[in-house]
Amino acid sequence: MLRGKYKTYDKLYIYILKGFHPELRSLSDEDLIGVWEEDGIGVLFFHREKDELVNSLCKKLGLELEEKDVVNYKEWMENRFPQPIQIGNISIAPIWCKGNWDIVFDPSVVFGEGRHPTTYTVLELCWEFYESYGLPKKVIDIGCGTGVLTLFWAYLGSEVTAIDINPLCVEVTLNNLKMNGLSSRVKLLQGDVKKFLPLEGELVVANLYKGLILDLFGLPSFWTSDYYIVSGFRPDMEEEIRSALSPFSVEVIKRKEKEGWVSWLLKNFKKL
Ligand SMILES: C[S@@+](CC[C@H](N)C(=O)[O-])C[C@H]1O[C@@H](n2cnc3c(N)ncnc32)[C@H](O)[C@@H]1O
Repeated sequence: MLRGKYKTYDKLYIYILKGFHPELRSLSDEDLIGVWEEDGIGVLFFHREKDELVNSLCKKLGLELEEKDVVNYKEWMENRFPQPIQIGNISIAPIWCKGNWDIVFDPSVVFGEGRHPTTYTVLELCWEFYESYGLPKKVIDIGCGTGVLTLFWAYLGSEVTAIDINPLCVEVTLNNLKMNGLSSRVKLLQGDVKKFLPLEGELVVANLYKGLILDLFGLPSFWTSDYYIVSGFRPDMEEEIRSALSPFSVEVIKRKEKEGWVSWLLKNFKKL
């Protein structure tokens, strides 16, 4: 996240550690962007070179440095430097863009800058859902990343439960909610979504990946909401994913495709 003197991102100094130590969670440094914790591995992101600090941390905590990378922020963001986007009548912009925006956010170094085809088509489906069915009282955002989908629904007035397995995503989402005065509408959960099931709402938004989508689709405890907007898979994966729906009364009622990525709106007929 952007802290202190930093107003945007330029070069990222990324330190990938072998292993993780809980003390890393409270690491504080004026050049720190964030600590990413995934599958027992720690990844430290800085605005500047921090070899000395990382070496002394490794020594103190009994960790080993696996890899150091220096990457341009644009490259880290898959060559998309975050820009303002307009979804329906809602404008969403990175915090460093001058202007009058409905929602501002710090995209940090986690997924969800808005213009990735999966996020973008999910946001479009969210807007179209809102126009067709009105405001869902309760929305579940599975894999919230930067919190962009959570911000969208909380801004419109829904109560949102947002979940991410990556603690940095939860931290970034919380920061973004605070920046927009929306934290009171959102419950944030950190951990594997499967441990929080069943989660009941009118709408679930889940921009994930094929393996996790297939896992979730196979669980009766996943099908406890009315509508689902799901993304994160390619056209050649659709058949396999669609066949996982066959034991349930769930149908794809809208489909979008952009740059080789597919998003679906699903309706759960049993629940309704
Ligand atoms: C593709 S990103 C989506 C971010 C944002 N919602 C968007 O649409 O741009 C997927 C997110 O799912 C999270 N994730 C992956 N596996 C998960 C799991 N088992 N439980 C919860 N979150 C998970 C990742 O950390 C990541 O932030």
